[in-house]
Amino acid sequence: MLVQSNHIHTFRLRMIETTSYTLIDGKKVSTDIKTEIMQRVAERKEQGKKLPHLAIILVGDDGASQTYVDNKVKSCKSVGFHYTMMRFADTISEEKLMKHIDHVNNDDDVDGFIVQLPLPSHISVEKITEKIRPDKDVDGFTNQNFGSIISKSPLLMPATPFGVMELLRRYNIETEGKHAVVVGASRIAGAPLSMMLTEQAHATVTICHKYTKDLANFTRSADILLVAVGKPGLITGDMVKEGAVVIDIGTTRVEGPQFAKGWAIKGDVDFKTVAPKASFITPVPGGVGPMTIASLLLNTLRATELQHP
Ligand code: GUN
Repeated sequence: MLVQSNHIHTFRLRMIETTSYTLIDGKKVSTDIKTEIMQRVAERKEQGKKLPHLAIILVGDDGASQTYVDNKVKSCKSVGFHYTMMRFADTISEEKLMKHIDHVNNDDDVDGFIVQLPLPSHISVEKITEKIRPDKDVDGFTNQNFGSIISKSPLLMPATPFGVMELLRRYNIETEGKHAVVVGASRIAGAPLSMMLTEQAHATVTICHKYTKDLANFTRSADILLVAVGKPGLITGDMVKEGAVVIDIGTTRVEGPQFAKGWAIKGDVDFKTVAPKASFITPVPGGVGPMTIASLLLNTLRATELQHP
């Protein structure tokens, strides 16, 4: 009888073992980073140094962009940064917007600025991005900052992948020699992230994108799976290896009457089926999203320190 009950006990323990995962709390880590930033801002104030000033350029009235920008403004206020919102109608010409960027580039009081994406289709994102002075490019979008990921002295890191790397570091996730599979090769997330994983984390990296055939074949071999596509629920439990680390970078605003606000932010990972197989996993919201803002604040502080030491 005793042996039999021990068997049951062992079985129960195994069940618990295979279904437990650590939730990566991006909200908490970003709060810790904001506290660190506040301390550095207080020190600058004490020393009579210039306080960080972030400018945000928003074109048009896209609801999702407005929400993201509101969060960035709130975060600036919470750490004691100065900020300026610059809004333009979606009919603004590319030329006029370029002129405005030149103006901000030359404004000594603004240490860093961002142009919120997406932009209206008549404006070239590449032209606009390249117009931003690299030492004020706190999103880390310019070619110079993108390329500096592989230099010995990077200038300003692309904010979203920088936030992901910080989560991996702060959760002591082993990366050296691990197989990291990045799904999505965008300029703002997947492409720079794959470079950082190679350069800084010494992982073996596979990049998948919209032309990849048999995606699941790649995702199933990932020790660390990082997804930045913008397709809610793309990654399901059957596509993930037991014990994998899963980082969901997707942030798609899905609208519907079932959501209290009329919309909700959804990730690329089907949390319900993937979490039971994962060792570590980020939720959406509350995972990578808050870290992108924390990185933006860190970059702004760094830009201020570089321009006004
Ligand atoms: N649109 C979606 N994410 C971002 C971001 O991180 N920065 C900017 N500028 N636009 C975005």
